[in-house]
Amino acid sequence: MLSSNRDFFRQQLSRNDLVAAPMAGVSTPPFRKILRDYFDGIAYTEMVSVEGVCRDNPASTIYLDMMEGDRPVVAQLFGGNSAAYAPAIAVAEAYNGPDAFDINMGCPVKKVIKSGGGCALLLNLENVAQIVRAVRQATERPFSVKIRIGWEESKPVYREILDIAQSEGADAIILHARTRTQMFGGAIHYEALAEMAANATIPVIGNGDVCDYASYKRMKDTGVDGVMIGRAMMHAPWVFQAIREQKATQGFISPSQIHALLLKLLDYSLLHAGTDMNKLGHYLNLLRKQAVWFSKGLPDAAQFRVEVFRGHAGSAEVSEGIAQLVDTFKFFKQL
Ligand SMILES: Cc1cc2nc3c(=O)[nH]c(=O)nc-3n(C[C@H](O)[C@H](O)[C@H](O)COP(=O)(O)O)c2cc1C
Repeated sequence: MLSSNRDFFRQQLSRNDLVAAPMAGVSTPPFRKILRDYFDGIAYTEMVSVEGVCRDNPASTIYLDMMEGDRPVVAQLFGGNSAAYAPAIAVAEAYNGPDAFDINMGCPVKKVIKSGGGCALLLNLENVAQIVRAVRQATERPFSVKIRIGWEESKPVYREILDIAQSEGADAIILHARTRTQMFGGAIHYEALAEMAANATIPVIGNGDVCDYASYKRMKDTGVDGVMIGRAMMHAPWVFQAIREQKATQGFISPSQIHALLLKLLDYSLLHAGTDMNKLGHYLNLLRKQAVWFSKGLPDAAQFRVEVFRGHAGSAEVSEGIAQLVDTFKFFKQL
């Protein structure tokens, strides 16, 4: 077993205080590999079911995959069954040993809530304690918990969860400073971040709506140790470097650099998928979306969007799909 490094989060955040969020369907190994061109901080995996990992189900462990150079990486588990965490962690450690773990206590989607995980935990603090305790007993690796303010405005639980996290041995806490009811919109509760940062003995990572230097600074000024970025990195994986350099994200890299980046993403997707055609199909679908996201704000982006998805439905051969994609990517070269 890895020797214990309970200071992992503090050490990493003092080196780079930005954090790449767990994003289902987005933070795949090829995407994280691209992030590494702009970012040497902590990156989270997509969430993965603790039940699936504990059964060593390949459809689940695949989410733990990393490509070479993809560190430091934190594997995020979701699920409400506290008994599944220790065996899942044993499987993950044997599989490829992520640097740290995270427990998802903030996801509002139905599948996750039905499992008793994600936001459902905001309504079940006893289970929060059981899960955090189980994880602490299961591993010497560091781990974080990712929460929201509470289920709804009138029932905040971030103070209680901070207490539980600290007393049961978690090494960091991430606060997406919204309630479950707010989903992904509405005002960020900066006052809750400031309060948590002032009271916590473990590192606090703030999250919500950070997309440029100004929003990073606003969150950092609450006193948090780190700032996690989600949606902004989907649209601009270079956002991490743009923030470091205090430059605008839009236009930070040229269209021809975006072109090169998309080809690189394709290469990484092919490399990582190997002969697994399902996985490749999934990555190619994602690549289409990414190409559209990266084209945002460029002239003729709307037309490009149509081209990228043309002929995609029920797409013929994979090789044909790839050739078609590469062809559409020329859009960026002619700008
Ligand atoms: C497409 C998408 C997928 C997400 N997947 C996860 C996930 O797997 N685990 C998780 O804890 N949060 C997930 N989130 C929430 C983000 O990690 C983050 O907390 C949220 O988007 C707020 O940060 P942002 O404003 O920087 O995007 C997801 C959000 C989006 C939009």
